[in-house]
Amino acid sequence: MNGKVEIKNATPGDAPSVAEIGRLTFYETWRPVNTEEDMQLYLESSFNEKQMLAEITDQSANTFLLAVLGDEPIGYVKMRRDRTYDEFKNEKSIEIERIYVKKKFQDQKIGKLLMDHCIELAKSENSVWIWLGVNNENVKAIEFYKKYGFEIFGTKKFILGTAVDEDFLMKLNIENV
Ligand SMILES: CC(C)(COP(=O)(O)OP(=O)(O)OC[C@H]1O[C@@H](n2cnc3c(N)ncnc32)[C@H](O)[C@@H]1OP(=O)(O)O)[C@@H](O)C(=O)NCCC(=O)NCCS
Repeated sequence: MNGKVEIKNATPGDAPSVAEIGRLTFYETWRPVNTEEDMQLYLESSFNEKQMLAEITDQSANTFLLAVLGDEPIGYVKMRRDRTYDEFKNEKSIEIERIYVKKKFQDQKIGKLLMDHCIELAKSENSVWIWLGVNNENVKAIEFYKKYGFEIFGTKKFILGTAVDEDFLMKLNIENV
């Protein structure tokens, strides 16, 4: 990879790029173990441009950080502030709902760069916890999160089209990170 990767706050004008990275990366990751029909149902409901625009615009709930190489958006992370778990006993928490790096740029520390920015942002907002849900078969992502010290604290259902999968819930206390 040539050039420096920059991380920037996504603006409403970035909605098409975010939608494209989301669709592409979700498809590359999950098509091998799902039907085409379920994939299309999920992509259409979760990564349409209109919805991306609404999510990016709602800045009190969401922060989207975009990884850009030159002019090319190559990954993003979505952080959410509008839901939490009793697990955190009223301590402030923030969720990483999606962290996506396009396949051809994976394993080159872009995920790490995005995660480091998430931790920095969470600390600047005085969050104590970062939490997330990850498909229980997504070994690569689970190992990636474990490297940071994330631990499993539960499970939840994840609907992909007509399929029902299971996510692990993972948490990281960032006070000492
Ligand atoms: C998961 C994902 C975000 C990781 O980003 P990445 O850019 O590929 O990972 P990085 O190169 O930044 O790796 C960071 C660290 O995790 C480690 N890591 C990554 N994959 C790993 C694996 N399969 N096993 C063990 N460690 C792994 C790396 O070795 C690296 O550790 P180091 O800094 O000590 O060398 C990325 O692969 C991705 O977008 N996957 C598809 C979408 C997805 O599954 N997203 C998460 C679920 S929402």
